[in-house]
Amino acid sequence: MFTNKTFLITGIADENSLAMKVAEKIIQNNGKVVCTGLGVTPFHKNLSEKATGFLNKSYSDFEAACKNRLGAETLTFPLDVTLPESLDSLVEFLNQNGVKLDGFLHAIAMDKTIRNKSVKPMLEVTAEEFNDTMTVSAFSLISLSHVLLMSHILQKGASIVSLSYIAAEKVSFFPYINMSIAKAALERLTIEMAYELGRDYGIRANCVRFSPYMGSKAGNATLKTEDVDRADRLSPLGNATPEDLAHEVVHLFRPETRITGEIRHVDGGFHIMG
Ligand SMILES: NC(=O)c1ccc[n+]([C@@H]2O[C@H](COP(=O)([O-])OP(=O)(O)OC[C@H]3O[C@@H](n4cnc5c(N)ncnc54)[C@H](O)[C@@H]3O)[C@@H](O)[C@H]2O)c1
Repeated sequence: MFTNKTFLITGIADENSLAMKVAEKIIQNNGKVVCTGLGVTPFHKNLSEKATGFLNKSYSDFEAACKNRLGAETLTFPLDVTLPESLDSLVEFLNQNGVKLDGFLHAIAMDKTIRNKSVKPMLEVTAEEFNDTMTVSAFSLISLSHVLLMSHILQKGASIVSLSYIAAEKVSFFPYINMSIAKAALERLTIEMAYELGRDYGIRANCVRFSPYMGSKAGNATLKTEDVDRADRLSPLGNATPEDLAHEVVHLFRPETRITGEIRHVDGGFHIMG
């Protein structure tokens, strides 16, 4: 299906990341992947020892997971989407390696108002926390698309997929609060991009809302077992798996589909429940 096709996969933290499943599925379908992971870049300034340690560990987990699961030849590169220079340096890396992209997966989210599985009430969220979450989790879809398009790395007819959650629309039993606003923005951005990039470049943009999943770092940091179990009980088909998600993303990446501007649900039918 993906012979001679290459996709950029963001958001792999380790072997359990949702993005890892997508990368594996692309390779199974004869495609190639280039993966970015959060890590220290030359553009980070005044990092504390703790932050440097965190970023170094993030990057070594990411690299080890990619080599182990995707093969030693898989191209990997550090990326912090909040730093424009880091995005530029990704472009330079892709150009140096002669990479042209047929699409990319946006699987990036971060919200400092969620700590130890508890979430700050909306009224206590500071402007800085609000803006940080928006920048990392939503605006990055624009900034990444922008640099990849302006550099002609993202090709005409490409497909962009991002990952969201039902909380973008409804108050969920797990109070996502600040992050839900960023997810709503991410979904709305997807629709605007479907229009703009569709008209100008024939590029598709879609978003997939997925079931709660505790296996990943982000899922484990935010969700409680009872939340995941509850969603599983309520969903007509039970919670969707990372495999189900990868199947759908790969479908949306297929060059022959004319699907764009969709907010799809891979959630076992959870979204139809009252
Ligand atoms: N786990 C769930 O329950 C669930 C459900 C629906 C949607 N999602 C979404 O799926 C996506 C992937 O999450 P996951 O569950 O696989 O967790 P994960 O922790 O494996 O992935 C989150 C990724 O975001 C990256 N990231 C954070 N800040 C970054 C920055 N400044 N620059 C670059 N990368 C940065 C992290 O390094 C990590 O790789 C996220 O968008 C998440 O909101 C997750």
